[in-house]
Amino acid sequence: MAITIPQLRELKSSGKKFTCLTAYDATFSHVISQAGVEVILVGDSLGMVLQGHDSTLPVTMEDMIYHVSAVCKGNQGALIMADMPFMSYATPEQAMYNASRLMQAGAHMVKLEGGAWLAETIEKLSERGIPVCAHLGLTPQSVNKLGGYKVQGRNEHQAEKMLEDAVALEAAGADIVLLECVPNQLAERITRAIDAPVIGIGAGNQTDAQVLVIYDLLGITPGRRPKFVKNFMAGAESIDTAISHYVAAVKDGSFPGEEHSFAH
Ligand code: KIV
Repeated sequence: MAITIPQLRELKSSGKKFTCLTAYDATFSHVISQAGVEVILVGDSLGMVLQGHDSTLPVTMEDMIYHVSAVCKGNQGALIMADMPFMSYATPEQAMYNASRLMQAGAHMVKLEGGAWLAETIEKLSERGIPVCAHLGLTPQSVNKLGGYKVQGRNEHQAEKMLEDAVALEAAGADIVLLECVPNQLAERITRAIDAPVIGIGAGNQTDAQVLVIYDLLGITPGRRPKFVKNFMAGAESIDTAISHYVAAVKDGSFPGEEHSFAH
């Protein structure tokens, strides 16, 4: 039996942190889940790190189903979260159809990017037994609207809106909230305001969990390395050791450090 959402909630309520990493294939899924990572994200970041696109927008449902099914084959007990690709959840009906395809491919939950406008969709998915992670902050599928991959929630108005979105989406049924590239003080406020576990990336170390793209953790980030990334291969003799160091550092709160986080 894979890790369950009630188990993740239990970790939050007992103040214990958990870990998440991306995987796109059976081998990495095996190694990551064997290392004790609780959640594997089959991210649409695969459009950039596997397919070489400059954004996640070209990723299709067929791509996601292919990679979810490969990841499931290697999984040793992690909860598998699958990204719903760009425009696959533009209406609640599309979301229900496409989420059901990812669940049938083996995912245990789906992740959608967006704020309170997603409440109706999340309510419908949740009512039909599909767990949802709501992705807030820097939402890469909206890169063209945001004008780049930039920290979100820096001014008071944006910060209040993100907090309200998180509360509204939890009320609609979101089981997890993921915050990407937000100031650590805001991430902490949101984490305290909701009962659903909060996973952070570039969101400081006060969230309930952390996620990284596996290639970033292994130090193979082409081009400029984002501030929130740490190369866990440095000083590790194997990939297994690097992943174990990441798990230990998240659980003891030493990763991310201030140097990986954004202040206001
Ligand atoms: O697609 C992805 O890998 C993600 C993470 C960066 C959070 O959404």
